[in-house]
This record gives sequence, structure tokens and C-alpha cells, in this order.
Amino acid sequence: MITVVAVSGSRRGRSTTRRSLDAVLDAARELGAETECIDLGAVDLPLYHPDIDEQGDSERLLGTVRDAEAVVIGSPVYHGSYSSTFRNFHDYCSKDEYRNTAVGLVATAGGGSYGPALEHLRSTVRGVHGHTVPEQVGIRGASDAFDGETLTDADIRRRLGGLAGAVVDEARRLHPEA
Ligand SMILES: Cc1cc2nc3c(=O)[nH]c(=O)nc-3n(C[C@H](O)[C@H](O)[C@H](O)COP(=O)(O)O)c2cc1C
Repeated sequence: MITVVAVSGSRRGRSTTRRSLDAVLDAARELGAETECIDLGAVDLPLYHPDIDEQGDSERLLGTVRDAEAVVIGSPVYHGSYSSTFRNFHDYCSKDEYRNTAVGLVATAGGGSYGPALEHLRSTVRGVHGHTVPEQVGIRGASDAFDGETLTDADIRRRLGGLAGAVVDEARRLHPEA
């Protein structure tokens, strides 16, 4: 069975990124995948230090990514790029975590510009040899898409579901045995 792991790069309690990834994982489960979410706001992950191999939860989290056939990365747009929270997690990662892994990308913006953040995510995942699918979801005015914790924008839910489909298809192509 395909396992899809979401990695949420926001530390906010009522994160729109986290809720958007939940919608991707809901759709992935409907397609027959197992799912798990790494909420980087709820883990112990000190600032990456190149002289220290393991810190806090790093080994457990890397193992979760390594074992997954697919990873969906979500980040809020911070100053036109992705968040330092995701960057810190990503600095722990290498090709070992992303070998033969299908990857999907989600960016949530307070304003209207998520394009550069998605491009930056795409190029940094290329650095660890993840197989990023062409489909991606950017959400502008992200807080307007939610009523509290609930995603109320049907078009965004449809797009997040489409991303789940693309990622699960790519994971099955890469792992016909799963
Ligand atoms: C430090 C910081 C920088 C931000 N920079 C931008 C930005 O450049 N463009 C934008 O549209 N929104 C920006 N925002 C707003 C967030 O992208 C937006 O609120 C997002 O939905 C937050 O996601 P979250 O709810 O998952 O934390 C910024 C927010 C913070 C805290």
C-alpha cells in the first residue's frame, strides 16, 4: 500500500497550511493510501547543525519520510518564499529520504503571491532528488478559504484533491509493488 506523508511547515496553532494538507490526505485515503502528517509546529526539531547528526525528533521524522512512497509538502508564504520552519526540517533531509519518492507541493499566502514560494520548494526538492509532480496548489488569501478549522472553499478542496490524485498516481508508478 502507498503511504503519503504530509509535512506542514507552519508553527501556527490554526494553520491554514496544516488544514490544507489535511484535505490532501483525506483525498489520498479515499484513493486507498495510508497517510500520516508531520506537523512541524508540534515536534522537537532544533536548528539544524552540520556537526551534529541527530537532534530532538530528527531520526524519527526522517525515518517517516524515508519509509513513505509519497510526500506532500505545505508551507506558508513568508516574505515571498517558503518558511524557515520547513527549511530547517529540509536541511536534515538528503537523497536518502526522497529516493523514488513522489512529491506534491502546497503554498498558502496571506496575500496573492505564492508562485515564487512554490518554485523555491520545487528547486529545493530537486536537490534531494524527489519526483515532484507538475500539479501544485497555491492558495491566495488563505484565511478566507476557511471557517475556523473547516475548509469551506469547494474549488480549493477540488484542487487539493487533484494534487492527491497526481501524487498517488506517481507513487504507484514508482512503486508498482506497493
Ligand atoms: C513572517 C511572515 C511573512 C509573511 N510573508 C508573506 C508574503 O510575503 N506574502 C503573503 O502573501 N503572505 C505572507 N504572510 C502571510 C502568510 O503567508 C499567511 O498568513 C499564511 O496563510 C499563513 O499560513 P499558516 O496559517 O499555515 O501559518 C507572511 C506571514 C508571516 C508570519
